Amino acid sequence: MLAGKHILLIIGGGIAAYKSLELIRRLQDQGARVTPVLTRAGAEFVTPLSVSALAGTAVHQELFDLTAEAEMGHIQLSRSADLLVVAPATADLMAKMAQGFANDLASTLLLATDTPVLLAPAMNVRMWEHPATQRNLEALKADGASFVGPNEGSMACGEFGPGRMAEPDEILAAISAKLADGPLKGKRILVTSGPTHEPIDPVRYIANRSSGAQGAAVARALRDLGAEVVFVTGPAEVRPPEGVQVVPVESAREMEAAVQQALPADAGVFAAAVADWRVASASDRKLKKSKDGLPVLEFAENPDILKTVSQMKKGRPGLVVGFAAETNDVIENATAKRKRKGCDWIVANDVSPATGIMGGSENAVILISDEGAEEWPRTGKDEVARKLAERIAAALAG
Ligand code: CTP
Repeated sequence: MLAGKHILLIIGGGIAAYKSLELIRRLQDQGARVTPVLTRAGAEFVTPLSVSALAGTAVHQELFDLTAEAEMGHIQLSRSADLLVVAPATADLMAKMAQGFANDLASTLLLATDTPVLLAPAMNVRMWEHPATQRNLEALKADGASFVGPNEGSMACGEFGPGRMAEPDEILAAISAKLADGPLKGKRILVTSGPTHEPIDPVRYIANRSSGAQGAAVARALRDLGAEVVFVTGPAEVRPPEGVQVVPVESAREMEAAVQQALPADAGVFAAAVADWRVASASDRKLKKSKDGLPVLEFAENPDILKTVSQMKKGRPGLVVGFAAETNDVIENATAKRKRKGCDWIVANDVSPATGIMGGSENAVILISDEGAEEWPRTGKDEVARKLAERIAAALAG
């Protein structure tokens, strides 16, 4: 999958550096060539010998290494790579990058190239949450760097929270996503997914049975064809795919704001099961049982995200795809829905309980476009997603 790709792997100084040894292995299993760079702090956690033995090549450590300079030069080192991966990316390395420092080999390599960079941050939770690190994160994102992790969990320092480096598997998926040479390379696609939760009070909410499986599968399939995917997801049961930009939201209104922020995009796929209504005035205190009778909930209509985006005068994605969950008269209802919303395609499915589709692993869809209705055979949600992603690629190419 990564055959012929060249990764420059910068190993920073953190306890997670040991995971980068495993990452080298995994990258090589996929056919990639890895050139390792070890910072001084990194060498306190893993030895140059283990890194070079695993990579099967010399590890680069010093900025002023005359032999290396004579052989290839540090500038060449980063420019010949397809991707620079910084794992672990410490708070210090992030700060240096954000400021443009070039006072050691790693920071010089990062500054001396416009090759894409992927960072896997790892640090103490307080360091991660510190405004300085968050500022640097934003600055690096604005400069075009991509991130994988950090994950939440217990840390070597005994604290709990975000700061653990992503696992080698996750970093590998993110690398594959960045290097994918598929037909959607260079295309930015927005995907909404999952249910929304509409609060009644601070502890109760109204939800629906969507697992988020179909939306996650679509995002994964688009990623695999090389798209840059922004994945706006409600509180779903399934984990979001690796290698996509995840924007977690709860309610329909939050989802709409996140979608607007994610635009512009070449295409939008709206797979979320958005609640049509929210409780008009959700209480900010827990509702109590009372002698005066049962609570009465009043509803207000939620924004129709698909409709709003489909009907945008400026900045509408070139292709807008909606989903239609129907329990009866699927084609008629979905065809009318396509017209009403103004989207280009509707992926319609029968979610009546007997089909077992909602929350299940299979789907049977009908693709409705201006060319009419096309029935796809019942198959796994992953396969439906692959087929849809290929159709999207063909439409965006044409
Ligand atoms: N959708 C949306 N925002 C909403 C409601 C729905 O973006 N507030 C999107 C869904 O993501 C899906 C499509 O609209 O792509 C259709 O969703 P569905 O629930 O089937 O349709 P509704 O508009 O809710 O119509 P109805 O409930 O009348 O069937």
